[in-house]
Amino acid sequence: MRYTGLIEHYKDRLPVSDDTKIISLGEGNTPLIRLQNIPKELGKNVDIYIKYEGLNPTGSFKDRGMTLAVTKAVESGSKAIICASTGNTSASAAAYAARAGIKAFVLIPEGKIALGKLAQAMIHGAVIIQIKGNFDDGMRLVKEVAEHAPVSIVNSINPFRLQGQKTAAFEIIEELGYAPDYHCLPVGNAGNISAHWMGYTEYHKEGKANNTPKMLGYQALGSAPFVKGAMINNPETIATAIRIGHPQNWDLAHKAEKESGGWFDALTDEEILSAQKLLTEKEGIFCEPASATSLAGAMRDIKNGKIANDSKIVCTLTGHGLKDPDTAISQCTNQMININPVMIEVKDAILNNI
Ligand code: F0G
Repeated sequence: MRYTGLIEHYKDRLPVSDDTKIISLGEGNTPLIRLQNIPKELGKNVDIYIKYEGLNPTGSFKDRGMTLAVTKAVESGSKAIICASTGNTSASAAAYAARAGIKAFVLIPEGKIALGKLAQAMIHGAVIIQIKGNFDDGMRLVKEVAEHAPVSIVNSINPFRLQGQKTAAFEIIEELGYAPDYHCLPVGNAGNISAHWMGYTEYHKEGKANNTPKMLGYQALGSAPFVKGAMINNPETIATAIRIGHPQNWDLAHKAEKESGGWFDALTDEEILSAQKLLTEKEGIFCEPASATSLAGAMRDIKNGKIANDSKIVCTLTGHGLKDPDTAISQCTNQMININPVMIEVKDAILNNI
């Protein structure tokens, strides 16, 4: 059967009926790519798989939750959705609202969202409300205003978001034939790690997997409330997607950590960027900075032995690298070669650099 999106595919496991009008852009079914070169460099015997969520329709994992959140908003008669966002949720909300023919309002922190995400929210016609504040301020405002205006919230406090996102765990189990030993994710609001845990436990309970993975949540050091054990008021990191100090899924994420036997940890911006670059240079996979936090954390915990030898590890890459071209270019030292349009100069450029 032709794949037409994750609601269609996992209909029996999601809160929809035969009458539900599905709002889909063909999300989900993303590649699981086995790393070939990086594990060798780590000097340990591990299998690392990348779940490349950047290949969803708007370039991030948010589409998994948004297809269901917007489907349910429309089903309940809603004519407008709203979210606070560090960028990806706003891009996804804008696209799915366009598809549904409803209005999207997005609150974003002024100057702190990556260029690609802003372009997406703008071109899909969302009403963009820039706030002189951070994501946490936006989230507080969204919750308040939703009590006074006719809008459905599509942030991950909307339970349909997590229901949609749990399908990533189903896909991994179906493709590998088992659940991995460890699943590493970048953590901001902690909706995704919570959703994955829901998915893994659902399949495990039904005997579709013999095991469940330890859930490892990695944050950026300047935005690491789970590592600190308390909310943070002025989060900072170059990985703007996870620049969040007051995560909305605090209890659910702790449940995932405890029940799975996993842990939270934090990485410096330098470690995050160097993992992003390593993936592009050694494996040909381009993700945005926040996404590389999962691999950066996995690599550190493989090297220090916290992740056991002979393990199977899945790292989710949450968003595509093209989301944040500025940060990508600013990391590169490649020399540009400027020439006249003549063959001999191209030839010299090749011979001098081969
Ligand atoms: N990676 C990326 C690329 C993200 O955009 C986000 C969250 C996360 C990881 C963290 O996921 O919040 O479920 O723990 N971005 C949200 C947004 C906050 O507004 O786009 P989480």
